[in-house]
Amino acid sequence: MTDSLEFKYEVQEGNFTRAGEASQDVKRKLKRLGVSPDIVRRVAIAIYEGEINMVIHAYGGEITVTVNDSEIKMVLADRGPGIPDVEKAMQAGYSTAPENVRNLGFGAGMGLPNMKKYTDELSIETEIGVGTTVTMKVYLQ
Ligand SMILES: Nc1ncnc2c1ncn2[C@@H]1O[C@H](COP(=O)(O)OP(=O)(O)OP(=O)(O)O)[C@@H](O)[C@H]1O
Ligand SMILES: [Mg+2]
Repeated sequence: MTDSLEFKYEVQEGNFTRAGEASQDVKRKLKRLGVSPDIVRRVAIAIYEGEINMVIHAYGGEITVTVNDSEIKMVLADRGPGIPDVEKAMQAGYSTAPENVRNLGFGAGMGLPNMKKYTDELSIETEIGVGTTVTMKVYLQ
């Protein structure tokens, strides 16, 4: 692979039925490209957690995945309320998920810690009232 490939996905606000579609599709595409199963798994988990966060905590947004010879880059940009305290949000067990969302099985406060754990780089840019962009990278070598 010499050129880089780009995949884009729209994530809809509050749509739990479709949440997970982006991670599923990326998983399928990476497998087809011959990316190793361990890396495919890590990328799929990271995107899935980010995708769910865009559904639960924001008002949807856009996911862009770029693949080149050396890395898989994932940019998850939402039009949400922003994260007031990123350090706190990164802590295992911290969650502001409301009751109805917890009843669906989310809200353990493990999404962001797992996104950090399964990727090689993670950075969060956030502005209150504007949105949040999470950028993650997984190295291919
Ligand atoms: N895209 C986002 N926009 C606004 N706030 C967010 C966003 N992503 C995460 N947060 C905030 O960070 C907290 C921690 O996120 P994290 O994904 O770790 O846990 P969770 O989504 O609450 O629960 P889990 O992911 O385990 O189901 C959230 O409860 C929320 O307050
Ligand atoms: Mg989460």
